[in-house]
Amino acid sequence: MNKDKRIFVAGSTGMVGSAVIRQLTKQGYTNITGSHHKRKPEKQDHVQYVKLDLLDQKAVENFFSRYKPSYVFQCAARVGGIHANNTYRARFLYENLEIQNNIIHQSYLNGVDKLLFLGSSCIYPKFCPQPMKEDYLLTGPLEHTNEPYAIAKIAGIKMCEAYRDQYGCNFISAMPTNLYGPNDNYDLENSHVLPALIRKFHEAGIRKDPVVEIWGSGAPKREFMHVDDLSGALVFLMNKYDGRAFVNVGTGQEISIKELAGIIKKITGYGGDLHFDTSKPDGTPRKLLDVSRLINHGYEPSITLEEGIKSVYEDFKENYARLIST
Ligand SMILES: NC(=O)c1ccc[n+]([C@@H]2O[C@H](COP(=O)([O-])OP(=O)(O)OC[C@H]3O[C@@H](n4cnc5c(N)ncnc54)[C@H](OP(=O)(O)O)[C@@H]3O)[C@@H](O)[C@H]2O)c1
Repeated sequence: MNKDKRIFVAGSTGMVGSAVIRQLTKQGYTNITGSHHKRKPEKQDHVQYVKLDLLDQKAVENFFSRYKPSYVFQCAARVGGIHANNTYRARFLYENLEIQNNIIHQSYLNGVDKLLFLGSSCIYPKFCPQPMKEDYLLTGPLEHTNEPYAIAKIAGIKMCEAYRDQYGCNFISAMPTNLYGPNDNYDLENSHVLPALIRKFHEAGIRKDPVVEIWGSGAPKREFMHVDDLSGALVFLMNKYDGRAFVNVGTGQEISIKELAGIIKKITGYGGDLHFDTSKPDGTPRKLLDVSRLINHGYEPSITLEEGIKSVYEDFKENYARLIST
């Protein structure tokens, strides 16, 4: 990416969007425009923030013709954990399709040099062979709880491929694994497992609760990546990768929810017991990405899970009031 040209980070108040801005800043990019919607971004001198409803087709059209970005990181989406995905099925499908359609189509119409679309590892079939290679897309039925979200993400990948095939657009896609990091969502109904556990253990510790309840059996295995490793990979791909095929982004290492809970219990210093509520759904039994494509192109993550959770817990305690109110 040329350092003088404008970079648009859609969804810059989110965990991923804010990490991309941190990463771009660290690497010396100064012509950055971010969009926000409900949340207010923290002011930064080299970033221009624009309030924009990405569901509004006309507003997105006006934004692109006014700001004319050269590069686009599509980090805006309706995101949530199992409960939110399963309850707001229509909303997850509609909003994600609408947001990505507006951004991808306007990027084409306005001659954007390069766009990066962000999918998610839930695009793969429920009983996908592990670790999941990019080639396994569309080889079996999806997990029911997040099927609408996954369908929207698959449509986004296919849209980038189709715009490349028909119009020659350099639009690439990355599929991140489960992420955690600063600006994560700590809402107990709407969050992913790792931030939800940090909050539960922290608050149970303060109240001196004897037991913490954990959704599901604890047996499912998951992969977790610190968002600063992800943002490093995304900027790397924007600079070094022009392929049609999407790229998995993860650590290539998995851990059971039970083991994860043990690490978070230790880091938060919680002294009580754990109870696994098996009446709640487990979701996909295993979700480990095959990250050889990314590694073969020359990028490797560097933050270990324990060191990542320790730093996130410090950030959580420091920003507790703000993080639990968003
Ligand atoms: N978090 C993960 O574990 C994970 C894993 C794999 C893939 N991903 C992908 O990474 C991307 C970013 O996820 P995230 O975790 O950063 O999510 P997030 O923290 O919830 O951020 C979502 C961003 O999208 C914006 N947004 C949502 N609806 C909007 C609308 N109608 N108009 C304008 N902006 C809107 C939000 O703006 P406001 O807050 O200002 O409303 C926010 O900036 C998504 O594509 C997600 O699928 C995330």
